[in-house]
Amino acid sequence: MYRSWGWAFTGPIGMPGGDEIHRDARMGPVTEQTPKPDAGTGIDTTVPHSARVWNYWLGGKDNYAVDREVGDAWMAVYPEIVVKARESRAFLRRVVRFLVAEAGIRQFLDVGTGLPTADNTHQVAQRIAPDTRVVYVDNDPLVLAHARALLVGTPEGETRYLHADVRHVDDLVRGAEEILDFTEPIAILMFGLLGHVKDTAEARALVGRILAPMPSGSYLAIADGTPTERSRAAEAEQVKKTGDIPYLNREPEEIASFFDGLEWVDPGFGSVSLWRPEQPPHDVSVITSAPPQHVDEYGGLARKP
Ligand SMILES: C[S@@+](CC[C@H](N)C(=O)[O-])C[C@H]1O[C@@H](n2cnc3c(N)ncnc32)[C@H](O)[C@@H]1O
Repeated sequence: MYRSWGWAFTGPIGMPGGDEIHRDARMGPVTEQTPKPDAGTGIDTTVPHSARVWNYWLGGKDNYAVDREVGDAWMAVYPEIVVKARESRAFLRRVVRFLVAEAGIRQFLDVGTGLPTADNTHQVAQRIAPDTRVVYVDNDPLVLAHARALLVGTPEGETRYLHADVRHVDDLVRGAEEILDFTEPIAILMFGLLGHVKDTAEARALVGRILAPMPSGSYLAIADGTPTERSRAAEAEQVKKTGDIPYLNREPEEIASFFDGLEWVDPGFGSVSLWRPEQPPHDVSVITSAPPQHVDEYGGLARKP
């Protein structure tokens, strides 16, 4: 039976083991069967998907011709999109490292996970603290199909994948509670997600509802695109073709409003590339290296009081 959400322990379609049901005692009970590539997968290779287009911009291989076509069309009008995507991932790495190494966080809820890439949340976190627990959430069937690749964590920690829609907060929280301890602080990550929720009030309400059951000392990190002349031109092209834009870029103050009621971690909210940029190594060759440049991807990290 195919369920709309549940823990998934599956292999990528078309890869060895991808059409079996996998059980791993360490991971708990299997509640999801692997979708078949030819029926009931929900994977539509004729329609571009956010996770796959993003994967293309990140230099990944888990995308189809239709995703590359959209990705190329955006890049033609708005070339900065690739730098934005990569800077957003670099921001995620710095945020996770800060949370584990400096804030002592050992639990993550990464909503809108995307396809596995280099340095997924659990890898960054468990390198520092192997006992870190990570729950990934996404509603894309292809991300579900790659869940097994995401699930390889340390034996001391745990890594789980929840196939769920951020709009179904009760299901999401119930699923997360099976692995995360809601009496201990949790870091919620929403990177490149909230632009999929086009109504700002709804997006703000979803963030509030997910944060509500988390204890004091929990954190929220968000990264989202902001509009520029060129991004608007790319969106206009997309609207002409499909009648819709795949992702809503918001003004910085709208994105900042998702953090209402929380305490900023320095340096607060801004372009993600400028958030605690990594110190260059002490090497003569880097003396001339350029300082980090502003990108139109904005975000921040804040603590629940
Ligand atoms: C732009 S990608 C970002 C991926 C990753 N967070 C990153 O920063 O690299 C957006 C992700 O959000 C997921 N997504 C979109 N709408 C969603 C929803 N309603 N519920 C859960 N996930 C969603 C997409 O499937 C996709 O994987």
